[in-house]
Amino acid sequence: MSDLDNQVREVKSSFDRAAGSTTTTDGLQELKVRYLGKKGALTVLLKSLKDLSPEERPLAGEVLNTLRDELERKIENKKQALTRAEDAAAEAMEKIDVTLPPRGRPAGAFHPVAQTMHEIVSIMQGLGYSVALGPEIEEDHYNFECLNMPSWHPARDMQDTFYLSNPEDAGSGSLLLRTHTSPVQIRSMLRYGAPLRIVCPGKVYRRDNDPTHSPMFNQLEGLLIEENVSFSILKGSLVELMNGFFGRELKNRFRASYFPFTEPSMELDIECVDCGGKNPGCRVCKGTGWLEVCGLGMVHPFVVRSGGIDPEKYNGFAFGMGLDRMAMLKYGINDLRYLFNGNVSYFLSGRNVS
Ligand code: PHE
Repeated sequence: MSDLDNQVREVKSSFDRAAGSTTTTDGLQELKVRYLGKKGALTVLLKSLKDLSPEERPLAGEVLNTLRDELERKIENKKQALTRAEDAAAEAMEKIDVTLPPRGRPAGAFHPVAQTMHEIVSIMQGLGYSVALGPEIEEDHYNFECLNMPSWHPARDMQDTFYLSNPEDAGSGSLLLRTHTSPVQIRSMLRYGAPLRIVCPGKVYRRDNDPTHSPMFNQLEGLLIEENVSFSILKGSLVELMNGFFGRELKNRFRASYFPFTEPSMELDIECVDCGGKNPGCRVCKGTGWLEVCGLGMVHPFVVRSGGIDPEKYNGFAFGMGLDRMAMLKYGINDLRYLFNGNVSYFLSGRNVS
């Protein structure tokens, strides 16, 4: 075997070995220079052709050209394979895995007072009532005067109150945070006339602050104005409301009471939803067996007239209840402050919230 054949075989096998251990396109570029570059192994052989005799030269030239083609082809193939692998690796690095499950948010829920409000409003809507709203910053005129509570009236003391202007300065036009939802009675009568059936939920404000009273709390007012309204309709409506809200038939009693804007006035007690009157040590009813839930009465003719309606033709009834208290009774919340301090964990800690 000729010297050239040996050299060709030598170059081929050392190239194959070097190519086999090349793993990057940069490495491949170096390999190309080492074999096919100006001082490369193959170039050196090609240069040595000139030392051969003219007879030997063509054959040797053909052998070396074939070798060059082979090396170029191998380099090109390898280059394609390495480029593909490098592209794939780069793509994998940049890829965003859209199949990653989302972190999720806990499902929200209504505040217990809002839920209570929705439940009561929906029962009252079933009895033909619409929802009416009024401002929380109210005029003395609507909050007190129109409701038969002139400035000297002692019943004001029970609700006194956050004034936004000096009541003595501005008379009945002075502003205050409403102490109850009853001014919405007047505003609604003036706006819609009779007949009228409305419920008015909303925030009210009084100067109280202890474990069972908050300076802001929620009330729901009811008002019905029609012809020949009897007290029995009022009783029936409220019993329907209480039994519907608590989901069972509860004993009830109507006790005589006093409000300047109703005559006669009553308070509604229901049987204790916690002990049913059976536990003398019950903390919810304080052992009395009864819970006071609602003030009510037949609307005073003065109030009907303040609402722009003829009290000779129309009469009706009104009631007002504390939504916070209703929520506490239904959901077994034992401190009013849990409703306002934003401590959600209290409501998630396995209490019997239906
Ligand atoms: N406004 C009364 C209060 O806040 C409740 C009430 C409303 C009583 C309607 C009778 C009729 O105490």
